[in-house]
Amino acid sequence: MLEYQRGSSFRPFLVLALETSCDETSVAILKDGQQVVCNRIASQEELHARYGGVVPEIACRRHFEVIHPLIEEVLEDSSLSLSEMDALAVTHGPGLIGAVLVGVTVAKTLALAFDKPLLPVNHLEGHLYSPLLEHPQLKPPWVSLLVSGGHTLLVLVEDWGQLRLLGQTRDDAAGEAFDKVAKMLNLGYPGGPRVQQLAEQGDPAAIRLPRPMRNQGYAFSFSGLKTAVHHAQSSVSPADLCASFQQAVVDVLVEKTLQAAMDHGVNSVSLAGGVAANQPLRQALLQQCQKRGINFYVPSFEYCTDNGAMIAMAGYQMAGLGITATPWLDAHASLPLQSWRNSC
Ligand code: KG4
Ligand code: ZN
Repeated sequence: MLEYQRGSSFRPFLVLALETSCDETSVAILKDGQQVVCNRIASQEELHARYGGVVPEIACRRHFEVIHPLIEEVLEDSSLSLSEMDALAVTHGPGLIGAVLVGVTVAKTLALAFDKPLLPVNHLEGHLYSPLLEHPQLKPPWVSLLVSGGHTLLVLVEDWGQLRLLGQTRDDAAGEAFDKVAKMLNLGYPGGPRVQQLAEQGDPAAIRLPRPMRNQGYAFSFSGLKTAVHHAQSSVSPADLCASFQQAVVDVLVEKTLQAAMDHGVNSVSLAGGVAANQPLRQALLQQCQKRGINFYVPSFEYCTDNGAMIAMAGYQMAGLGITATPWLDAHASLPLQSWRNSC
């Protein structure tokens, strides 16, 4: 059964979006494809912190508990009702399968009950389009560096709905590397912000760590870097280690992103995903882009980590392409970019 169908392009005035792919339950309403009316995030961070990472079964149960009250809260805050929505949007992958399934099931039920079109959203495309929430002037072609806990991708946005994957990580994602280094140093979960914080007191040049896959196109690899950190642990302070590790990650990400922009002759670059909250990465990419006269777009912190507003924005893009979900829309643990291309 096909999960997507293609019809005429449309511009839903009000989109209600659900995001449940990992450890944040989020509901948002987007107006006219540009104004976030409300974006609520119920984080499960505390719930998973004592396990040192996300426990899928716990995540799934918590999504189920909070999603309905959260939808009600968002509608109440916005003084809007479900019947006033022009479309619903939902993340249907990639993510923790049980977690994604909660959002998909609720969204499909509401779409059916209220007779609304349902916009199927790939979580990564949510991150990819997140800079548009605050920078509507961003237009294709542009190069997007997408760095989250589960993914590290370089994408060329050739046109609306025309994404070309330039490269991705061969092993750990950038965020995953931050989380694992934090775990190694007993800094707690989630690791990214804690590594960044400790790094502020350290010297980024304290030790020379590898810059993995430096001359190998747009592919990334972070697991060797993580091992190098492990070996250096006894010879350098945790702050110096964090600073050196962070610098190595930033160097590789910035270098490959700029290379991609120059190779493809684009003059806009965007940064998105949880790791986009990393201050030194934001600064380095901004600086390097400015040096070359390239426009740089990054969302504010609220829209870097998982949130419903970016899912609404990506859903709005799907509506523009005329793509909606059929009743057979399913949850997927892994989902390639633009999976609808091959199946509708
Ligand atoms: O996009 P996101 O919220 O969830 C996924 O889709 O994976 O990204 C979460 C990731 C985690 O690995 C977290 O450690 C990382 O983003 N992260 C950071 C920072 N804030 C969050 N990494 C580096 N520096 C930060 N300030
Ligand atoms: Zn994410």
